[in-house]
Amino acid sequence: MNIKLIGISALMFSMPFFAQANAISELEAKYQSQGAGSFSAAKGETLWTTEFVDSKSGNKRSCPTCHTSNLAKEGEHARTGKVIKPMAPSVNPQRFTKVKKIKKWFVRNCKWTLGRECTAQEKGDLLAFLNTL
Ligand code: HEC
Repeated sequence: MNIKLIGISALMFSMPFFAQANAISELEAKYQSQGAGSFSAAKGETLWTTEFVDSKSGNKRSCPTCHTSNLAKEGEHARTGKVIKPMAPSVNPQRFTKVKKIKKWFVRNCKWTLGRECTAQEKGDLLAFLNTL
């Protein structure tokens, strides 16, 4: 790693805004390498609020089921009741700063909510939407 790169990573760790931009753009590039086109915050918002019916329980599920409809506020886990910190990066600068974390929760939450994994396009649209908050 050259000195310039060290400087840039030090800056990224010290400033959540840059870490966010970095994790999100890293994932966007990955999704596009997997065939996604350009990303739409509007489509991301539509998917975020769409209700899916769970095939086993018949219950309706959507992202706001746990994250609530006000993303600047705390959410509550639908099953465990655990508090979930606000999703909006404008009130919670820790959001979307770690690629690993984003990936892990996309897998879990898409499976639980949609009954399948989200596509590369859907994940990019969702991040585009969440990043406007
Ligand atoms: C069953 C409850 C539940 C549902 C439904 C849910 N989530 Fe989550 N989500 C969580 C929990 C718990 C976390 C991890 C705790 C945290 O980050 O505060 C999380 C974290 C995330 C993260 C990681 C954020 C970060 O800071 O990196 C993303 C992205 C995410 N959820 C997206 C979604 C999307 C998209 C949907 C709808 C398809 C969804 N979630 C539905 C419970 C849920």
